[in-house]
This record gives sequence, C-alpha cells and structure tokens, in this order.
Amino acid sequence: MKRIDPIVSEKTFTLTNNATGETYDLPVLEGTIGPQVLDIRALYRDLGIFTYDPGFTSTASCDSGITYIDGEKGILKHRGYPIEELASHSDYLDVCYLLLYEDLPSPEEKEQFNWSITHHTMLDDQLMTFFRGFRRDAHPMAIMVGIVGALSAFYHDSTDIYDPMQRMLASHRLIAKMPTIGACAYKYSIGQPFIYPRNDLSYAENLLYMMFATPSEEYQVNPIFAKAMDRILILHADHEQNASTSTVRLAGSSQANPFACISSGIASLWGPAHGGANEAVLNMLGEIGTSENILEFIERAKDPSDPFRLMGFGHRVYKSFDPRATVMKETAKEVLNELGMVDDPLLEIAQELERIALKDEYFVSKNLYPNVDFYSGLILKAIGFPTNMFTVLFAISRTVGWISHWKEMIGDPDNRIGRPRQLYTGEAHREFAHVTHRKHTKKPIWSWLWGGKKNES
Ligand code: SDX
Repeated sequence: MKRIDPIVSEKTFTLTNNATGETYDLPVLEGTIGPQVLDIRALYRDLGIFTYDPGFTSTASCDSGITYIDGEKGILKHRGYPIEELASHSDYLDVCYLLLYEDLPSPEEKEQFNWSITHHTMLDDQLMTFFRGFRRDAHPMAIMVGIVGALSAFYHDSTDIYDPMQRMLASHRLIAKMPTIGACAYKYSIGQPFIYPRNDLSYAENLLYMMFATPSEEYQVNPIFAKAMDRILILHADHEQNASTSTVRLAGSSQANPFACISSGIASLWGPAHGGANEAVLNMLGEIGTSENILEFIERAKDPSDPFRLMGFGHRVYKSFDPRATVMKETAKEVLNELGMVDDPLLEIAQELERIALKDEYFVSKNLYPNVDFYSGLILKAIGFPTNMFTVLFAISRTVGWISHWKEMIGDPDNRIGRPRQLYTGEAHREFAHVTHRKHTKKPIWSWLWGGKKNES
C-alpha cells in the first residue's frame, strides 16, 4: 500500500486571543492510524506567533509511512507488519527491503536484493588505510562517524540525491558496507588484520565472520549466534522519528549527500541517552556487581539530585512496555540457555533489577519500563562483542531505518529545508563598548582554560 497523503479533517481547533477576542481556526490532519495533528504551518504567517516544544514531546516533524509506534499499547509496526511477526518469521534483509521498498520481497526480489547487498560489502581499498589514522584505543563509534562520512569522498556515482538510481545505489552501499566498517574498526582496535567479507555468508553470518575470524585458521560461524544477531538487527532497524533519525532527516533537508547524513545519524546515536544505552547498561550491571547492591542503585536512580539513571529503562514514547525488549529478553534467555550460561550473573542481576524496578512506585508512576537496550547487551556479550562495539551494532542495524527515512523525505516533492525557530530570552539590545571601557564582571576563564592555577576566588 502506498503511503497516503495527510487527510484534512472536518474538525478544526479554534484559538482565541482572550485579550482581543480574535479567533483563529487550526486545521486538523489525519493519517491512517494514530494521533491526528494540528496543522500549524501558517501560524507564524497569520498570527506572528511560534509554538514551543523543546524535545519535541508533542510535535510531528513530518508524515511518514515507514514505522508506527503506539507507546500506550506497546505496539511497533514496520509498514503495517508487527515487529513480533517480523522478528519471528523474517530475516534482517527482508526487513531492509520492507523499509526501503514498502513491502516484503517476493522470492525473486529477495534474491536480487540479497545479491546486490552481498556484492557491495567491500570497501574501496584506499579507504582501508583510513583506519590506520586513528589511535588504536579510539572508540569505534568515532571511527564509524569518520569512515562513513568519508564514503562520500569515494562513491561519487551515488551522491546525486535527485537521481532515484543513485539514491538506491547509495542505500544499498550503506546497508552493505556498515558491517565491514564496524568489523574493521574492531579488528584495528585489537591489532588483528582486517577480514574481508565473504559472498557465501548471510548478512549476520558475514558480520560475525569479519568480527571474529582470523587469517590463520578456518572459522565457522556459530548458528545460534548468527540467528540471535539477525534478530537483534531486525529489532533495531527502525523506530519512527527518534533522535538519530530526526538528525538524518534534518541533515538531509539541506540536500547533503546520503553518506554525510548517515554519518550525522551515527554521531547522534552514540549518546548514552539514545543508542549508547546498550553499552551503558552492561557497564551499569558490571558496576552493580551483585544482586545485593541493586537497591542502592535503584535509590540513586530515583534521587533527583543524583544524575545516575537506570540505563536501559524508560522511553520517550513507550509508556507501557517496549515490544522489542520483550523479544530481546526471550532471545537473551534462549542464547544463554543454548550456551549453558543460564546462571550468567549479569542476566540474574538484570532480571532482579527489572523485577524490583517494576514493583517500585517511582518507576511505575513514571511509566519506566525496560527498553530495547536493557537486554541486548547480554546477548552481544555472550556472542563475544566488547561493550564498546554495542552501539556500533545498533548503528549497523539502524542504517536501513535512517536511509529509508532519508529516501522518503528526499522523494517527497513538498520536502524543504528544516529550520526551527526559537523563543529568544537573551539581551534585547546593548550599546557596543570598546575593550578599554569593559570591566571584568566575571571570573577570568584563562586561569583554568590553559593550564593556569585554578581560580580560587
Ligand atoms: C533508545 O526515541 C527512540 O525511539 C529511541 C530508541 C530507538 O530505537 O531509536 O528507542 C532507542 O534510545 C532507547 C532509550 C535508551 N536510553 C536509555 O535507556 C537511557 C536511560 N533512559 C532515560 O535517559 C530516559 O528514559 C530517556 C532518554 C530514554 C527518555 O527521556 P524523556 O522521554 O525525556 O523522559 P524524561 O527524561 O523527561 O523522564 C521523565 C521522568 C523524569 O523524572 P521527573 O523529572 O519527571 O521527576 O522519568 C525519569 C526522569 O528523571 N526517568 C528516569 C529514567 N528515565 C526517565 N529515572 C531513572 N532512570 C531512568 N532510566
């Protein structure tokens, strides 16, 4: 089903200026399901007033047909298909095709798409030298931001954003090359040679192969790990207008090339409030150490004066459960069970932490439930990934979501540059004063900026 145009509702909302009695009717737009929107596009032109919504808690930045989330009911659908169905019956490249081309592939489409992705997994050999410019201890997300942005310096035949064929080529290249870049970043950090992709492996198998194989011996990908990896990739593929996807859309609205836009999405995902949470969860579970310490950390998370938050808990949209966390929890148990690690101490701490938090008034009253990141790290750790690679895996998976939203936006004839306004709260006006007439009103910053004695006064 093609995405519909927003429908102008018969209903309107009327604003009344209670100082003048003036009224203004706001049109209402409807989509297929979910909340309607107030169309405020003419508000500033007609009334000279902005709306105010830092953090965009009540703002629809666009209309989209890719992903639907119902935070109250814990529903996540991609092009109408529930995430639970996709996680159980599809593979990651099926979901990539669905997000990019609006429906699940036929057998022929699946074969063609998989062939295309498989044959774009290698990097230009000159790009392989870029990794050597980083310190060995560079965070792999720093490397991902750099290398992905640099793709635009190599693949000039897929940077014309108004050529549909070049948009498709850039999309396939990005989906295909992200695992290779991520695996090279990992190999470089541990001083091992890069492992090139193989065309006889599936997407998830290839990722694991490039991560963990060495040139000195045969490496068989563990099928349990490959299946778990593929499911984790599906669960992270897209999630509506989250921070990194909104970053990609805003970068793309300036007509920047797709590689630069995806690099901006990687940078945004890196934050611990967003995609960096999976790494932060494992670090938190390690810091908790034993179930006896859980209550202390719960109290810290509840203390408004303590910046500590329960990582992997809470979500801007899900005010019941995150359906991905439910699937992830089952997958974590399956993988650890199949590995004979049912008594994994971190899993025990995570389950106990969840049990205690979900009974605690603070978390219940604020609708704080485990999110997609709470259990994913346990699986990734069991597979053998270091924690600093967790967000890289999130970025590998989310690339298809980012590029699908970018493609949807660029292909929209009404697309225009995103340019939010503000409520100005600074100085209204000041007369310029020559430097000789300016008095020091604040502590001089130089004393600690350039290594001087810390200003004690
Ligand atoms: C992802 O948007 C997406 O879709 C993101 C994502 C995707 O797939 O793209 O789903 C992936 O980013 C998942 C979220 C991963 N982040 C974490 O797990 C970090 C821990 N969680 C929080 O930082 C927080 O819950 C956020 C960032 C996820 C959501 O923040 P919001 O919506 O801005 O909520 P908030 O910070 O305003 O919190 C509301 C209240 C606050 O208390 P009050 O000020 O009202 O008293 O809940 C409290 C917060 O202090 N709170 C928490 C908490 N999360 C929120 N208290 C303790 N621990 C937490 N984890």
